[in-house]
Amino acid sequence: MAMDGIERDGLKAGDVVIVTGGGGGFGRAFSLRLASMGARIAIWDINENDGAETARLVRQNGGDGGFFRVDLSDPASIAMCAQSTVSTFDAPYCIINNASVFPRAEVIDMSLADWELTLKVNITAPFLIAKTFGPMMIAQGRGVVINLASGRAVEGAAKGANYACTKAAILSLTKSLALEWAKHGIRVNAIIPGQSLTAMPLAATPEADLHAHAKTRNPMGRIGYPEDVAGLAAYLVSSDAAYMTGQGVAINGGAVMVP
Ligand SMILES: NC(=O)c1ccc[n+]([C@@H]2O[C@H](COP(=O)([O-])OP(=O)(O)OC[C@H]3O[C@@H](n4cnc5c(N)ncnc54)[C@H](O)[C@@H]3O)[C@@H](O)[C@H]2O)c1
Repeated sequence: MAMDGIERDGLKAGDVVIVTGGGGGFGRAFSLRLASMGARIAIWDINENDGAETARLVRQNGGDGGFFRVDLSDPASIAMCAQSTVSTFDAPYCIINNASVFPRAEVIDMSLADWELTLKVNITAPFLIAKTFGPMMIAQGRGVVINLASGRAVEGAAKGANYACTKAAILSLTKSLALEWAKHGIRVNAIIPGQSLTAMPLAATPEADLHAHAKTRNPMGRIGYPEDVAGLAAYLVSSDAAYMTGQGVAINGGAVMVP
């Protein structure tokens, strides 16, 4: 390591991590993995049962975590949830913008309501979250943001223009925030997962078909799992990634090679 006197910052025990969509597939895996690194986890989700279950699992494994109900399509709900998170825990060191929705339809059949909901949850919420917590993270002089993109951002999606557009947008938000916040010691990166076994793809495709597709089409011959992706988040939040910002990192068994 260069002897330049500059600290290589990363997650420390007791740091607060907000995981949006923490009740779901990746969100639960992120919560458990980062709790095992000593983070205190604020689980944000619209689904009370799933979010509370993640908090229970975090605590069962010896970690510290709490559930906060939020509707990310509603700016007032985000503001209230932010307030209760800070008063219960503290300002976050890390935010994982993981929640997203994917109502499926071809463009000509898609309702304006579905289009707008997708934009609100998938891209406006991360923007509002950045505006809300940015000043606190800047005051701390350290922090990490991890945004969840998708291979759809670079490949497009039939019956998913809404989703693909927001995933391209979050890659762009990642780069812009990285530029604005590097001088404050805040790193902003994106994870670009491939198809993984969670409720999201299962909403459109039976599990057996997902495995069969991955076996023949994925270079590694298998689908991804939330734990595969949680390992990348553990790296991005750690001091090992201290010189890394503005990047989109794909993790997909080689299915889509980015860039
Ligand atoms: N699973 C995959 O194959 C895959 C592939 C590429 C990218 N991704 C991305 O990874 C992230 C996580 O995906 P996942 O598969 O775990 O999703 P998931 O559908 O299993 O979980 C999403 C979570 O977000 C929550 N949520 C939805 N709307 C909300 C709202 N309005 N307010 C608050 N919470 C809300 C849900 O309740 C759920 O717990 C997403 O951003 C997704 O786009 C997933």
